Amino acid sequence: MSKSLRLGIAGLGTVGTGVLDLLQSHAKPITTRAGKKIEVTAVAARNRGKKRGHDFSKLAWFDDAVALARSPDTDVFVELIGGEGDPAKAAVEAALNSGKSVVTANKALLAHHGAALARLAEAKGVALNFEASVAGGIPIIKTLREGLAGNRVGKVFGILNGTCNYILTKMANEGRSFADVLKEAQALGYAEADPEFDVGGFDTAHKLAVLTALAFGVEVNLKAIDIEGIEAITLGDIRNASELGYKIKLLGVAVAHEEGIEQRVHPTLVPKGSPVADTDGVFNAVVVKGDFVGDLMLEGRGAGAHPTASAVIADVIDIARGNFRPAFGVPASELRPYREAPKKAHEGGFYVALELHDRPGAVAAIARLLADQKISIESIVQRGKLEKDTPRAVAPFILITHDTLETAMRAALARIEKDGHVAQPPRMIRIERL
Ligand SMILES: NC(=O)c1ccc[n+]([C@@H]2O[C@H](COP(=O)([O-])OP(=O)(O)OC[C@H]3O[C@@H](n4cnc5c(N)ncnc54)[C@H](OP(=O)(O)O)[C@@H]3O)[C@@H](O)[C@H]2O)c1
Repeated sequence: MSKSLRLGIAGLGTVGTGVLDLLQSHAKPITTRAGKKIEVTAVAARNRGKKRGHDFSKLAWFDDAVALARSPDTDVFVELIGGEGDPAKAAVEAALNSGKSVVTANKALLAHHGAALARLAEAKGVALNFEASVAGGIPIIKTLREGLAGNRVGKVFGILNGTCNYILTKMANEGRSFADVLKEAQALGYAEADPEFDVGGFDTAHKLAVLTALAFGVEVNLKAIDIEGIEAITLGDIRNASELGYKIKLLGVAVAHEEGIEQRVHPTLVPKGSPVADTDGVFNAVVVKGDFVGDLMLEGRGAGAHPTASAVIADVIDIARGNFRPAFGVPASELRPYREAPKKAHEGGFYVALELHDRPGAVAAIARLLADQKISIESIVQRGKLEKDTPRAVAPFILITHDTLETAMRAALARIEKDGHVAQPPRMIRIERL
């Protein structure tokens, strides 16, 4: 057996210690599969005194991740610090510049600098592997880069954030409010103290940006993503959707159109009984539509120390075996510039919630304004008056449309609001019929 592969690991938090656990517990099969021993020889983190459940006394310790990345006593740099900027960025660049392959779990770094880093890795003839950066333990990067390499992918979408999926699932199953379930998710450690990054859809957007580049062979473009979080989803929306045969999920969706690429992150109605609708709790799911393979879905744990470590170690084993693949599936020089589809390109069904002033002719007026935009209604749920004591009573009015252009839908809703038919601005949620 050839000499060992020496890892330098920067970041010894949730994922870093998960990687150490896995290397310790599965040392033998990993060595067999890799064809050589994988050993950690150096580590970096901020606080040397912190208890982490591992003995670092025989390893080289670096306070500076960039110095570790350059260290000649390691072969592969494993970046598990996180964040789009330094020290993660500087350290990854330093490792690549010194001719070292890199394994990273850092979606923020890739979403912002993916194409440049892929070019640098390729120029240096080394690997840039990032299986753990999207959907934790689900091997979606390898699936897109290798398993589906013969296909033209038309669409990729999925549930990419376990925190949001946990919150939406609990709201639906237990009839609790967003704020209430969020508090519980924070107490259980599923949601950060500042949950905006997760519930605002930004984490999903980072992951989607990476998937889009891989699926369509284009440069990563985070800025082109329309992002909407789950903060405004009410229990009423979830109940209405359920009555109409749908569940609400936060999806990241990327579609390749003739005119360009569409990327969006938003709460979405998905039909009950579909595999995505059945992906509940902290689980993630990614669906790929390939022209030869058809539809394919992978479901699994999208975060956590051990699932994420599983993905990191798969990347390390690839490097040990000498498997080098272009980071985004095509040589970096062949990555096409990102071309954004015009906004009107999105066509689909919509869930619309209106708080109608309860007066004669209101429903007919709504139907007419929708018809003006050639929008046809699939189903309607009208509730009785909610606020009987208020002088101008409102009646919640929920409708599902057949497929229509988003621009038409927005124009109709703007007109409904402008004409004074509603007590609150209309709310709409897109539908993916899957
Ligand atoms: N957690 C998950 O389930 C998960 C899943 C998929 C991907 N990821 C990605 O994996 C990466 C790591 O996430 P994590 O959850 O393990 O984070 P974490 O628990 O916060 O750990 C971060 C580690 O980085 C170290 N660190 C921070 N700043 C540093 C600096 N300036 N120099 C050196 N070390 C520094 C910290 O050191 P101290 O310990 O000394 O403070 C800590 O050990 C992120 O990119 C994240 O997006 C995480």
